Amino acid sequence: MSQEHAQDRKRIQEEAQPLPIGARLVQNQCVTPQQLQQALTQQAKQGSNKESLIGKTLIEMGYISHPALLECLFHQLTRERIAYQIDPEATSVIRFVNVEKTLDGRKVLDDLNLEIPANKITAIIGISGGGKSVTLKHMVGLMKPDKGTVWVGDQPVSRLSGRQLNAVRRRFSLLFQEGALFDSLNVTDNVAFPLREKTDLSEQEILARVETTLQEVNLAGMGHKFPDELSGGMKKRAALARALITQPEIILLDEPTAGLDPIIENAIHYLICDTYMRTRYTIVCISHAVPAIFDWCHHVIVLHRGRVLASGPSLDIRNSTDPTIKQFISGDLDGPIQVI
Ligand SMILES: Nc1ncnc2c1ncn2[C@@H]1O[C@H](COP(=O)(O)OP(=O)(O)O)[C@@H](O)[C@H]1O
Ligand SMILES: [Mg+2]
Repeated sequence: MSQEHAQDRKRIQEEAQPLPIGARLVQNQCVTPQQLQQALTQQAKQGSNKESLIGKTLIEMGYISHPALLECLFHQLTRERIAYQIDPEATSVIRFVNVEKTLDGRKVLDDLNLEIPANKITAIIGISGGGKSVTLKHMVGLMKPDKGTVWVGDQPVSRLSGRQLNAVRRRFSLLFQEGALFDSLNVTDNVAFPLREKTDLSEQEILARVETTLQEVNLAGMGHKFPDELSGGMKKRAALARALITQPEIILLDEPTAGLDPIIENAIHYLICDTYMRTRYTIVCISHAVPAIFDWCHHVIVLHRGRVLASGPSLDIRNSTDPTIKQFISGDLDGPIQVI
């Protein structure tokens, strides 16, 4: 490796180091150090020291616009994705080893082996009926394999039951394909639901956390609305708030942009990016939004007929010369995969 090349790599790796958002905004000259200091002081006055809300405070103080903040986070994610492509070393948090599952006499997962890198965004893509949702259900033990093992960290989740399984499940939040808000509950009660079910927090603490989480997904003040009063994008935000409120380690999103128009789809991608930057959770997102999703994740897994067709940094998969993968990305009818 030439010295210049080595220096480039070092610079890329340095720029990709996770920093608190405030420090990152200063480093990228989106706000001045003085503005950041004033925003931190303002937050302290309001009794909040949540680093994750610093962007919001800076917007409220007029130091940065919301689109500019999101753009800055997106650029940072892009840097981190490039660094991940150069050096895709990451510990895996979920591992499927030789997993088989037959449903209705059909082998849906066929000797599936996959790894999900920890604290990264992974997209799972593939044609409809390829076993993506079934794979997600195996990660949280909602479905059990006929053969093979699903590991979450050092826990064989596919062999656990009862309290042990519940302990693993608490590390997850799952946002189902349908989004599934309770129609009879307003947004506050929907978002508060997992805390009321699973924790002993006081009602006051719960409502405070709901308000913060609604702010994080840009739904501040919308708590009194009912699902049928919300737009498609707002419903997704509310569902995401409900997934975030338990502060999980791993978020599983099943087609978060299905059925939404392109502008809202884009807004949801920014929201996922924003969530990742603030929390650094592991995010696994099933998506049909190809090729857009490639810009929003570190790692891509292409699932086809219950097997992994390709797995790697999104930039590598996007540039793949494999005809089947190219067909996935381009959506061509003509190619190795025959759908009609
Ligand atoms: N609970 C179930 N019972 C029977 N068949 C199922 C069940 N869930 C999924 N399947 C079948 O498994 C295959 C993969 O489904 P799924 O994982 O939902 O696909 P996708 O990749 O579109 O998310 C499909 O053929 C589907 O009909
Ligand atoms: Mg599905």
